[in-house]
Amino acid sequence: MNACIRAVVRTAIAKGLEVVGIMRGYAGLLRGEFRPMDLRSVSGIMHLGGTILKSSRCPEFLTPEGRAQAAEQVRKAGIDGLIAIGGNGTSTGAHLFWLEQQIPILVCASTIDNDLYGSDFTIGFDTAVTTAVHAIDKIKDTAAAHERIFFVEVMGRHRGFLALYAGLAGGCEEILVPEKPTDIDAICQRLMEGRRRGKTSSIVVVAEGDEAGGAFAIAEQVRQRTGLDVRVTVLGHIQRGGTPTPRDRILASRLGNAAVEFLLQGETDKLVGEVKGEIVLTPLEDAISKPKEIDEALYQLAYLLAQ
Ligand code: F6P
Repeated sequence: MNACIRAVVRTAIAKGLEVVGIMRGYAGLLRGEFRPMDLRSVSGIMHLGGTILKSSRCPEFLTPEGRAQAAEQVRKAGIDGLIAIGGNGTSTGAHLFWLEQQIPILVCASTIDNDLYGSDFTIGFDTAVTTAVHAIDKIKDTAAAHERIFFVEVMGRHRGFLALYAGLAGGCEEILVPEKPTDIDAICQRLMEGRRRGKTSSIVVVAEGDEAGGAFAIAEQVRQRTGLDVRVTVLGHIQRGGTPTPRDRILASRLGNAAVEFLLQGETDKLVGEVKGEIVLTPLEDAISKPKEIDEALYQLAYLLAQ
């Protein structure tokens, strides 16, 4: 997100615009927590995770009254257009804000869940995958040493992108995602077959949104049915921080830069994303309502290669 903020600020200044940063997302918008941003305000932030402007979950912005209050602040400050950086919640808020208040707003696609229609990849996803894979690599060492089955739970909200990418890159035996039914008996059977083929340890990646429940519940069922020695690791919020990967920084730079250009061209109520390498705009209504599917071929490949 910091790389995106930097791109927005420096592109806008290059275009002769004045830029203010809004603290704490929609919460700061409601309260008028604005700070002027100059070229130096975004120096030395590319390598930092999180966001220098801070973030929040803002229940007040979910109400029309809250959005009206925010619009008042925007008008009072003389702000002509907004660029938000976020995922589904941010996009939903932005869409309603535009419909009700007619203040131009664009959203740069950013979420570790990668679940936004209108962008093949979202800012933060690559970094989160990288973190998850590093963790899996380490867990593999102890799994191998102790000849255990590890269940590693990753984030991703209602989608399995993070689990699929981390699972394939981590060479994991099972990848449980919300998009696919989870059959515990079938998992047990495959794990036991793996043992017969000479595997002494296995890693099962569990997406937090999986229908069969969290990693603890699934691991316990597998333990009961197979008698295998199981352990569970929930990666949690470590997936949301740390040094962003170059790929994320480049995506963020491109989206932030394009968002300013599009706003100046009069675009509004759209997601700024990347599809097949090109920067594209997608109506926010589509971005939040249309499902984005995981790549079936990647899923099949992960299982084929983990035999
Ligand atoms: O949407 C990003 C995400 O990290 C999800 O993967 C996760 O379910 C959720 O946010 C966690 O939110 P919070 O930090 O508010 O508990």
